Amino acid sequence: MGASLQGQVAVVTGASGGLGAHFARVLASEGAGVALTARRLDKIEALAGELAAQGRTAMAVRLDVAKPETIPEAFDEIEAALGPISILINNAGVGGEGLALDMTVEHFDTTFDTNVRGVYFAAQAAARLMMASGVAERGVGRIVNIASVAAQTSLPGLSAYCASKAAVAMMTRVMAREWARRGISVNALGPGYVLTDINADWFETEGGAAQLKRFPKRRLMQETDLDAALLMLAGPAASAITGQLIIIDDGQTLPGGG
Ligand SMILES: NC(=O)c1ccc[n+]([C@@H]2O[C@H](COP(=O)([O-])OP(=O)(O)OC[C@H]3O[C@@H](n4cnc5c(N)ncnc54)[C@H](OP(=O)(O)O)[C@@H]3O)[C@@H](O)[C@H]2O)c1
Repeated sequence: MGASLQGQVAVVTGASGGLGAHFARVLASEGAGVALTARRLDKIEALAGELAAQGRTAMAVRLDVAKPETIPEAFDEIEAALGPISILINNAGVGGEGLALDMTVEHFDTTFDTNVRGVYFAAQAAARLMMASGVAERGVGRIVNIASVAAQTSLPGLSAYCASKAAVAMMTRVMAREWARRGISVNALGPGYVLTDINADWFETEGGAAQLKRFPKRRLMQETDLDAALLMLAGPAASAITGQLIIIDDGQTLPGGG
């Protein structure tokens, strides 16, 4: 691919599989040095090896975003190895499924600890470093929070998840406003359904199959459908784009039958 992110250092949370691993490959293929973080160290080490074998710069750092007090140390380790962080892809997330009547406090808390607190404090840690390193001053700081169509759509059985993603969309707006003159663009990317571990069980069920038949194109999205938006929000084009939730969903949430 190209070199639009040459010289940039990107951190991807939740890079051990699914969309995060794909995002890391896309950023690396555009020349960014990539720090892969997640709890499953074996997976991110394997991906770092794959990227290094292609001549890319990559490292793996274990990070549980649900323990926000550990985020600054992990990001310091990344900066020490790769240089100033200029891009954060705030991707780590859990499904948070369960009907509202059955939801336990523990499951709700896990959902919010990961999807809301994890995203919030990773953004905070990255922004502090971008401001301290001069990245922000150069106007190239980029934070891309991975939200979902669930931020704007009522999905039965996903009330905690939808609420967590709506929180991501709103924190994106406020952080963008606070840092608008500080050289950091903060945006959210809201994918529709792509088949990954987060939803694979669901699409095996009758309910999942029925939902798929209601999508206008009768299909799930491909992870590559997100590439153009990801690169737009991570790269130079986003200097005048901030505080936005960009939905890329293959039309899955368009109302109307047929
Ligand atoms: N797939 C979709 O259709 C879809 C649609 C809209 C939005 N999204 C969002 O996209 C993001 C990625 O989801 P996915 O579909 O790729 O699901 P996935 O395959 O289940 O991947 C989730 C990733 O998050 C990581 N993660 C979970 N809890 C974590 C924690 N406490 N600390 C650090 N990492 C953690 C996992 O890594 P470890 O287990 O190794 O920590 C894994 O790499 C999520 O935010 C999800 O809500 C997905």
